Amino acid sequence: MQILITGAAGMIGRKLTDAILQAQAIGDHPVKALHLADVIPPVPPASDGVKITTSTTDLTDPDAARVLTASRPDVIFHLAAVVSGQAETNLDLGLSVNLDGTRTILDAIRSVGAGYCPRFVFASSLAVFGTPLPDVIPDDFAPNPRTSYGAQKLIGEILVSDFSRRGLLDGISLRLPTISIRPGAPNAAASGFFSGILREPLAGLPAALPVDPQTRHWFAGPRGAVGLLLHAACVDTAPLGHKRALNLPGISATVADQIAALERVAGPRAVALIQPQPDALVKDIVSAWPRAFAPTRALSMGFTAETSFDQIIAAHIEDELGGKIPLHDTE
Ligand SMILES: NC(=O)c1ccc[n+]([C@@H]2O[C@H](COP(=O)([O-])OP(=O)(O)OC[C@H]3O[C@@H](n4cnc5c(N)ncnc54)[C@H](O)[C@@H]3O)[C@@H](O)[C@H]2O)c1
Repeated sequence: MQILITGAAGMIGRKLTDAILQAQAIGDHPVKALHLADVIPPVPPASDGVKITTSTTDLTDPDAARVLTASRPDVIFHLAAVVSGQAETNLDLGLSVNLDGTRTILDAIRSVGAGYCPRFVFASSLAVFGTPLPDVIPDDFAPNPRTSYGAQKLIGEILVSDFSRRGLLDGISLRLPTISIRPGAPNAAASGFFSGILREPLAGLPAALPVDPQTRHWFAGPRGAVGLLLHAACVDTAPLGHKRALNLPGISATVADQIAALERVAGPRAVALIQPQPDALVKDIVSAWPRAFAPTRALSMGFTAETSFDQIIAAHIEDELGGKIPLHDTE
């Protein structure tokens, strides 16, 4: 099987690449070749079993997108995007990457012709939903985005469904939960603190908490997100019918739940590094986000994610901190 990942230099792209290279397969299908494309030059990891190629590709360029699909990849993970904060502050950029970029890769698939019909896994987001929201969102709840990012993702979902109906691709749009713990440096996203309040204390650093501890949201860890994407690459799409977008399993947790898990894993000294710094703007944005889903369809199709923040924190320590909590070294 031949795989293409767009946005491969990003956080999820790099984790997905590592998982594919480690397994050298997706489900029962051996992976022979993997192409990593991003506007930032992707750094290819070492691999002895899978042929890796890379390209610095701006997906808003139709010619560049056609080069990516000319080799007829069997599975395309479309992850390239600018995230919510950027898409909100820069409407042109969001429209260009999140909307035009998605349209461009879809058109590039269409241009191959001759019966080419790849599995297309689109990284959508729970941001397609906007207030008013029920406490638990059922599968048939209508999307109603309240951000430009959510609107751009929803348009992408509709195109993926329509191209699938036309037999131009076999698409599946994953409304990914917010990923926590996002590794690396803090970013400017309004959701950034959901990772920061765990990641920084685990590294022995202070973290700001801008919202009330009872704030509830829907999460998956990086490993869970990768698992959802890999399952989408090989699952039977027949049960989706024409509804190609899926709400996904995740963890409904309050900030207090996150902090309690941190205390269980890393102790009270880690929790003491979290400093309340109320931020009315962040509070306002986050209060409009989904708190929980009942993702019946996805569960019946075998999608799974993490079930506790203890599990997510343990995976972060293993994957990002070499299995040790630096804070404990000074005890
Ligand atoms: N991280 C989350 O919490 C989360 C939640 C829901 C959905 N998603 C979606 O999952 C996908 C991956 O998320 P991530 O957290 O890895 O984001 P990321 O910002 O780390 O990665 C996105 C990548 O897209 C690339 N990109 C941007 N513009 C491009 C262009 N014009 N051409 C080619 N590449 C371009 C960026 O360089 C970056 O490497 C995105 O589509 C995002 O919207 C993420």
